[in-house]
Amino acid sequence: MKVNIFKTASEIGEAVARIFVDEVKANPDCVLGLATGATPIPTYECIKKMHKDENISFKGVKTYNLDEYCDLPKSDKNSYYTFMHEQLFNGLDILEENVHFLDGNAVDCDAECKRYDNEINEAGGIDIQLLGIGNNAHIGFNEPAESFTDGSFKVKLTDSTIEANKIYFDENPMPHYALTMGVKQIMAAKKIILIATGPKKAEAIKNMVKGEVTPLVPASVLQEHNDVLIFLDEAAASLLD
Ligand code: F6R
Repeated sequence: MKVNIFKTASEIGEAVARIFVDEVKANPDCVLGLATGATPIPTYECIKKMHKDENISFKGVKTYNLDEYCDLPKSDKNSYYTFMHEQLFNGLDILEENVHFLDGNAVDCDAECKRYDNEINEAGGIDIQLLGIGNNAHIGFNEPAESFTDGSFKVKLTDSTIEANKIYFDENPMPHYALTMGVKQIMAAKKIILIATGPKKAEAIKNMVKGEVTPLVPASVLQEHNDVLIFLDEAAASLLD
């Protein structure tokens, strides 16, 4: 794990966007694993800007998002489908048929998860996976658990995750279930980039970097991957030595 500490979230956005855009330049047909949430927004802003300023096409790029809420229409402003289009895809020349999500409204969730996992394998696996981290150290929606998960699956969100994310839902109740890629699948990405900003992430970051590898701290598994870059602001890094 290589830890990089920056002063501001926008500096992190710039640095991480540069890695993604350089990958697209070098490998125009690359497969990217993407995350939602507040953390990657500055990165997505910079990717859109670099795409325009440097005339880098995303037409050959395929993307797979980490997770999607269950029982929320795709068109809902809080669906991750809508989030990704608003924050990134609408500002790129990426093809709609190349952006992929788990379908949180699938009737047969097991079949949907298998379909997604097969598609990722058929695409050749993920070249770079972007991750945020939950206050409880979740990655994707892999919540603290008894064992590390494998492929995509339906998960019941923990109270900590519901508490952190319900602010986006105004008067509507937040879904308590989601479909998410599993830990083993995230670990299969060739390169992983995790971003964390703000003091609420400091404890999770300390446990991820310095603690033992345990499914109770899902992000700690990243210690076992051979190409992980961590990008932190000073607040998120405050409990590291
Ligand atoms: C989002 C995801 C989650 C978030 C995490 C942090 O697709 O998989 O693991 O990365 O909950 O969310 P923010 O960035 O909103 O603090």
